Amino acid sequence: MYMKKIALTGIKPTGILHIGNYFGAIKPALRLAKEYDARYFIADYHALNTVKDPHVLAAHIREVAAGWLAAGLNPEEVIFYRQSSIPETFELTTILMAFTSKGLMNRAHAYKAAVQENLENHEDPDAGINMGLFTYPVLMAADILLFNPDVVPVGRDQVQHVEMAQDIAQGINFNYKGDILKIPQAAVQAEAAVVPGLDGRKMSKSYGNTIPLFAPEKQLRKLIMRIVTNSQGVEEPKDPETSQIYLLYKLFASAEEQQALAKQYRHGGMGWGDAKEELFRVVRRELSPLRNRFEAIIADTPALDAVLAQGAAKARPLAQATLNRLRRAAGIAG
Ligand code: ADP
Ligand code: TRP
Repeated sequence: MYMKKIALTGIKPTGILHIGNYFGAIKPALRLAKEYDARYFIADYHALNTVKDPHVLAAHIREVAAGWLAAGLNPEEVIFYRQSSIPETFELTTILMAFTSKGLMNRAHAYKAAVQENLENHEDPDAGINMGLFTYPVLMAADILLFNPDVVPVGRDQVQHVEMAQDIAQGINFNYKGDILKIPQAAVQAEAAVVPGLDGRKMSKSYGNTIPLFAPEKQLRKLIMRIVTNSQGVEEPKDPETSQIYLLYKLFASAEEQQALAKQYRHGGMGWGDAKEELFRVVRRELSPLRNRFEAIIADTPALDAVLAQGAAKARPLAQATLNRLRRAAGIAG
């Protein structure tokens, strides 16, 4: 029997979704789900490391779940669940801990960056670093290894974590002399370039330069009008490829629209205000239907909860199979 390959990825509910998440993660993952058996989940226990307000965390979980559904995730095709609904994840984490050297965690980029920042601020190297952050790659390895994925679509910053999952799985397979855990591969979407933010840096919630995916139209327009531009006058010819407005425009506009705007840029006679209005037009065209779907989905709490519960019910037997295989190999069967 031909078996489809498996793709798995997790999304941390640490903030409101923005268009960088949409073009960089959600859209490519939904494209991948057409070819692969997809398992996509909300990494709520990962978010707990940084989000300590219960109302905020609960709201982000629902927003991210509704966001994926509004963007087109079909829960009949994709197994879509909350990490916290799969207790096998946490049992597997305990097993993986026994096979994870502390040195491996010391080398994790996110931990090293946090230590570096503390040192620069003349603080204790581990100030503000909890064990959840330190052991983050082990929990992530459990998320992955539990479901035997072939590929894990992630952003470039997450590749090291997937490599750590490979290392840990290889250690286990070597110790128990068998292919107990499948070795996953990271898949970085080459075409999903970095989406620029309002200030020209990478769009990121940590820079406060985002365009939220579901912003009301008035706010959307205001944000677009705030995009930083240079002081070139209306009559001056402009280079589209160095313009934030144009780079964002490319994500939303058809090929003809892109060519037409590029021509106007190069020709001169178009001010930044006009370019922003044109950007707003295409952004609104794509995001309005998405926002309407999002608002309907998020308003219906029982239906949203049911979708996630149904996803968990499909995911748990798969997780139990892997966990039981490993428990038996380890001599902890029963
Ligand atoms: P943020 O930087 O806002 O905190 P996350 O780290 O939560 O975003 O990213 C979630 C997903 O969205 C990741 O897969 C990441 O690669 C993708 N992503 C985030 N910002 C961008 C961006 N500006 N361009 C492309 N992809 C992005
Ligand atoms: N660490 C990932 C991020 O910050 C989220 C995540 C958690 C994840 N578990 C995962 C991604 C498992 C892929 C597979 O974006």
